[in-house]
Amino acid sequence: MNETMLRDEVLIDKSGAVGVVRINRPQALNALSFSVMEKLVAALEMYDQDAAVGCLLLTGSERAFAAGADIKELEAATPVEMALSGRMELWDRLRRLRKPLVGAVSGFALGGGCELAMCCDMIVASETAVFGQPETDIGTIPGAGGTQRLTRAVGKAVAMEMILAGRRLGAREALALGLVNRVVPSESFFEEALALAAAVAAKPAVAVRLAKEAVVRAGDLSLEEGLAFERKLFYLTFASADQKEGMKAFREKRRPAFTGS
Ligand code: HXC
Repeated sequence: MNETMLRDEVLIDKSGAVGVVRINRPQALNALSFSVMEKLVAALEMYDQDAAVGCLLLTGSERAFAAGADIKELEAATPVEMALSGRMELWDRLRRLRKPLVGAVSGFALGGGCELAMCCDMIVASETAVFGQPETDIGTIPGAGGTQRLTRAVGKAVAMEMILAGRRLGAREALALGLVNRVVPSESFFEEALALAAAVAAKPAVAVRLAKEAVVRAGDLSLEEGLAFERKLFYLTFASADQKEGMKAFREKRRPAFTGS
């Protein structure tokens, strides 16, 4: 790691071509206050714009990825404040990140923490990771995509049980249900996620960006529309220097020298 900057509750750190954003509010198990969310989203957007960064990595601590929205901050909120504060629009900005986002998740990923994990394109989970949507216990419902993304990820039956009956998924169950990509020892979850992010960051940037866009859209489009969209992006890759270099290097039996263009 080089270049470390402290932004109080959110730490940013560039590791090679990976932009690392770490939630750092241990006294509240990384509860996602408005201020934490604002900093976290701004940090991810900053790396999304940074030409030297090829992949984003979001993590918390070993004990908690994030234990949800900050309940103490929300307790007295009114619907009008919630609607006008811009709080929820922060989540829309996460969806617009163009570079791949890897989640390194250990410990609690509850409520908004589970929703934040599901905003990641891939998740490396420590064996201690626990995913849950306990919002109904405190009289509300998942509000940052939990009812939609969880249902798409694990299916209706398990999503209903998690949201209505408080079922939590351990890391292995989450893996079996396709919610996470891999489960690794808690001592090495961050390094494993960083290695995955670094592997993505080493790939040609244009192809990676377009591939992410195509897979993200697969959740919204009909097969017919999705295939047409994919084909247009496929054609577009042939405008990139890295496509020419990648195929030339294959033919010449050498390692490609990608430029990210
Ligand atoms: C505010 C929180 C918090 C949260 C934990 N803390 N979770 N503060 N909001 N979501 C604080 C506690 O108040 C406590 O501080 C400290 O973190 C340690 O937590 P403990 O409860 O003492 O730890 P433990 O007994 O180990 O229990 C861990 C836990 C529990 C199971 C994760 O903290 C818990 O149930 N947290 C709430 C989980 C939850 O309901 N999340 C969904 C929130 S609603 P103090 O100073 O009090 O000792 C949501 C909606 C999202 O996420 C909508 C979109 C934005």
